[in-house]
Amino acid sequence: MRMRRKRHLEPRMERCKDLLAARGRPCLNLKEAAENFRALLDYSALFGNDAPVELEIGCGNGGFISELARRTPQTNFLAVEVCSNVILTAMENCIAAGIANVRFLNIPAEILPCYIPENSVEKIYLNFSTPLPETSREKQRLTSSRFLLIYEKLLKEGGCIVQKTDSAEFFEYSLAKFREHGFEVREVTRDLHHSEYAKENIVTEYERNFSGKGMPIFRAVAVKNRSFPG
Ligand SMILES: C[S@@+](CC[C@H](N)C(=O)[O-])C[C@H]1O[C@@H](n2cnc3c(N)ncnc32)[C@H](O)[C@@H]1O
Repeated sequence: MRMRRKRHLEPRMERCKDLLAARGRPCLNLKEAAENFRALLDYSALFGNDAPVELEIGCGNGGFISELARRTPQTNFLAVEVCSNVILTAMENCIAAGIANVRFLNIPAEILPCYIPENSVEKIYLNFSTPLPETSREKQRLTSSRFLLIYEKLLKEGGCIVQKTDSAEFFEYSLAKFREHGFEVREVTRDLHHSEYAKENIVTEYERNFSGKGMPIFRAVAVKNRSFPG
């Protein structure tokens, strides 16, 4: 089902322009764009400081990233979301909460290399990415080889991907893909809310919904560690 366009979307996006670091799909196809188009972000200019940068992909309404940014003011955050309707809410909430250390990219993750410099990101958060179980949609899963090759380039050595999901099948698929791509998998839990990691956990909008239905939450950390034997 197609989501209805938000009322006054464009003027509202315009009011959030100071938070919006990138928007839109380049005219080229996504593969061509990722390889050929470059408008790399200058973090110092964007945030006004040189603090470390973390990235969330598929931020939805932005509840997770704004709470993380509030708890960690000494870190800068980039939040990526393909849907304008949704990212608008995230940006408006961020402005209302007076959060200064988050910027947004209204782009598909496929073209992250156009904007994010290589070896510049400490952590990538993948919260409740759509599992897309159909074999025909494997390439669109945010932990498929296509995306892991991108993340591997953007992450600094020792940087990591932090994944949470409600889907056991997608979780096992992701763990296998992380290992296949030489990431060192750590902190695996198949019941996050009853694990040692529960205390620090920031519950996302989707997570609240799934755990409210009694479903377990899966979480793992995949570290880029070139000296790891794999
Ligand atoms: C299931 S929702 C999860 C939202 C939020 N992370 C949470 O946990 O509440 C997945 C979000 O990822 C976004 N998304 C899916 N594929 C994407 C892509 N390739 N690039 C950027 N965003 C994407 C969707 O638009 C959607 O808002």
